[in-house]
Amino acid sequence: MGIHFGVDYYPEHWPRERWETDARLMQEMGVQVVRMAEFSWFKMEPREGEFHFEWLEEAVALLGNYGIKTVLGTPTAAPPAWIIERNPEIQPIDRQGRRRHFGGRHHDCQSNAAYRAHIKRFVTAMSQRFADNPNVIGWQIDNELGNSHGDLCMCDSCKARFQKWLADKYQTVEALNDAWGTAFWSQGYNSFSQVSTPLITAVGENPSAMLDWKCFCSDLIVDFAKWQADIIRENCPKHFITHNYMCFDDKVNYYDLGELLDFVSNDIYPAGHWQKQPHQPEHELAASHDVIRSYKKKPFWMMEQQSGMAGWEIMGRALEPGQMSAWAMQSVAHGADAVVFFRWRTCAMGTEQYWHGILGHSGNPGRTYEEAKTLTHRFTKHMDVFEGSMPKPEVAIVHNFRQNYALRIQPNHPELWYVGQLYQYYKPFYDNKIPVDFVQDTDDLSQYKLVIAPLQYLMTPELEQHYTEYVANGGKLVLTMRTGVKDAANICMTDRELPGKLGDICGIEVPEYDCLLQTTGSVLYDGGTYEIRKWCDIIDLKGARAIAEYQTGFYKGTPAITENAYEKGTVWYVGTEPGEALMTDLMAYLIRQSGVQALGTADAGVEMMTREKDGRRWLFVINHTGEKQNYRLNGTYTLLEGEREGILNPYEVQLWEQAGKTE
Ligand code: GLA
Ligand code: ZN
Repeated sequence: MGIHFGVDYYPEHWPRERWETDARLMQEMGVQVVRMAEFSWFKMEPREGEFHFEWLEEAVALLGNYGIKTVLGTPTAAPPAWIIERNPEIQPIDRQGRRRHFGGRHHDCQSNAAYRAHIKRFVTAMSQRFADNPNVIGWQIDNELGNSHGDLCMCDSCKARFQKWLADKYQTVEALNDAWGTAFWSQGYNSFSQVSTPLITAVGENPSAMLDWKCFCSDLIVDFAKWQADIIRENCPKHFITHNYMCFDDKVNYYDLGELLDFVSNDIYPAGHWQKQPHQPEHELAASHDVIRSYKKKPFWMMEQQSGMAGWEIMGRALEPGQMSAWAMQSVAHGADAVVFFRWRTCAMGTEQYWHGILGHSGNPGRTYEEAKTLTHRFTKHMDVFEGSMPKPEVAIVHNFRQNYALRIQPNHPELWYVGQLYQYYKPFYDNKIPVDFVQDTDDLSQYKLVIAPLQYLMTPELEQHYTEYVANGGKLVLTMRTGVKDAANICMTDRELPGKLGDICGIEVPEYDCLLQTTGSVLYDGGTYEIRKWCDIIDLKGARAIAEYQTGFYKGTPAITENAYEKGTVWYVGTEPGEALMTDLMAYLIRQSGVQALGTADAGVEMMTREKDGRRWLFVINHTGEKQNYRLNGTYTLLEGEREGILNPYEVQLWEQAGKTE
């Protein structure tokens, strides 16, 4: 497509006379695309059926004169007040049974038929109007679907839809009673019509019902997106359709949603004001990009890349010189073909008046603008060449929404968080400059030398079979605590000791366990003492050998981590949460055992990542610190962008191409 840098632009927030200056400054900065209109329904339809697209057409055309293309957002994350006045039932109901009202955004129920009708009318008109516009290239449906919809919506329309979803899934109410284990606390139903949305209870909730509810909500959001995607596809066959995801966010199964889209987009705010730290650690950002790449197994767009200090009521840290560029190129290194900065100019009004952009409130180009300009002028030409390329990791970490849902419903330990575990397993590979893919549990694993499958909490016979085959054929697999605990309906398994049938490939049984509430423990590993956290599986060896033993608890001296040869492969079982030092050393051992290759070595805060295409391989070296850093590459590469080989200036990004790389 040849489009690599852009900005999120809101011309409707500024006087018409300013637009031309914006377009000129954007062109000089190297902007090739803008995203517009995803929150401007009222401006486009101030009264039912009275469409005003002319201002938007004018903006699209003006930008077009400066060589800038447009991605249009459908504005359905913020229905205007006149819609709410006409159909107040569109406003969602929360778990407390309270109505959530107009005045922010996402004040909509996604199953509501009246709302769907408003969307159909509006999206039809908008997509028809822009279908043949030469400067429009694609669409973003809605905005961050699932954002603010965590516990929504409990209204009657959603209830009816949930009942139908359950009836389709279970066919008979007896099957539902069985799957949900309603014999407990007298929760049996005589008919689907008795099942409600999960409004707040007096106490407790049914974990099986909650799992179905979360899956239902995800399906509802996908259906809501499809409602619009179908209209746009029909009217705009020349345009792409995408959506801006939120990294690992779990309100909607992003793999399912991806099936509707031509490619996935992502939003990332490393220094968001909600973070406790000044910014999110780089390995978590890297993992987020890797999972985004995995949702459709192809390159993606960054639809919102942080370009300034974040802030609603309070503000985050200012971005240091170079930091924005390092984060932007990190997105590219992990598979982004385009980076769109949020936002062009800091808004003077509304909730986000402190969410800073490329330009400040004054609109004068300053430090951030100059930095962005340097970035685009250095990298656009290279991105034209490696567009469409992908990394080829030898390591995979399994990621699955259902495991995440089940562990959100019952975290087992108050601080156990599924995505947090993925981050912990990811970090040693990141630190060792070893690229990682995220895969779904049922994906083909055979191309990977090492597969890490943390917290395989919900288990099915198919998945047991899948992992067993991978290992039998020579795969190296890591399984962890809380594996094989439940069936697909979120009911505890009873036919064998944990981890169920996978005990055969692990060569162990786990008849007991201990939850480390408000305490930590330690293990002896490779002659040293290491901290462990949250959980201790008490393991009986059934053929495996212990590679770490507990030093604490009444099970002191028993195995904490095991290794087992199974047919042609090896399985490690980690019965606890390793502290950071143990995780580092344990993964270093697994890296050696599986023969996985590192891209190089470097000082702290330096990242390496590759992309490959047509037998060519590009390597990115990124300094995420404000200090000079050194590094060394494994292999022979030619420097395409960068000042000095092996030395990085603060926040410098260097680009290399492998010499004589062949498949
Ligand atoms: C999200 C949204 C944007 C904006 C930013 C900043 O990512 O998609 O519309 O609200 O956050 O808050
Ligand atoms: Zn609803």
